Amino acid sequence: MVKTKINPSTYLYPMPVVIVGANVVNKPNFMTIAWCGIVENDPPMISISASKKHYTNIGIHENKTFSINIPTKDIVELTDYVGIKSGKEIDKSSLFSVFYGDLENAPMIEEAPLNLECKLHKIVNLGESHDFFIGEIINVFINEDCLEGGIPDIQKINPIIYSTKQRSYWSIGKKIGEAWNIGKNYQAD
Ligand SMILES: Cc1cc2nc3c(=O)[nH]c(=O)nc-3n(C[C@H](O)[C@H](O)[C@H](O)COP(=O)(O)O)c2cc1C
Repeated sequence: MVKTKINPSTYLYPMPVVIVGANVVNKPNFMTIAWCGIVENDPPMISISASKKHYTNIGIHENKTFSINIPTKDIVELTDYVGIKSGKEIDKSSLFSVFYGDLENAPMIEEAPLNLECKLHKIVNLGESHDFFIGEIINVFINEDCLEGGIPDIQKINPIIYSTKQRSYWSIGKKIGEAWNIGKNYQAD
């Protein structure tokens, strides 16, 4: 295998695609985010990295709450749209059916099968461009038909996968093994 060195950049494959919701001046606003990841288990915490230029950031700073919504291919066009248009130019508040949880001001999307309601834990600044928001997951909402034996089922959720430098959306493929299991009997030569 011949390896070639390419420029150091944000080459993580695959990336998730989530829609982040926050109320900005009392109105729901949504933006697409690919830079999202789990950072802690106890309590459960998640991070998003969002350009300081984004309108949604104003609401997260203001209310100290936000939501993470997992979109499906059924709403891929809208997912892209809220990632192209800013709340600074257009009103994105009625693009989705919105519901609220215990925090009362983290707008969540009915059309997304899985929703994480988050309380802002910390904002970290690692560079000039992005706010790295860490949120504690206070509540999780899921469409009942996306559960299998009480556990979220990836095939039923049908999340979108993002290929960053190709700028394209993908569906999940086939299951290839049981995690924490398939490697158990591996025999090193
Ligand atoms: C597929 C996709 C992924 C994106 N991921 C990020 C991201 O991880 N971080 C970020 O700051 N912006 C990201 N964006 C850009 C924002 O979603 C976009 O600028 C949005 O219009 C901001 O909306 P707002 O100004 O209403 O908050 C992404 C856009 C797309 C289409």
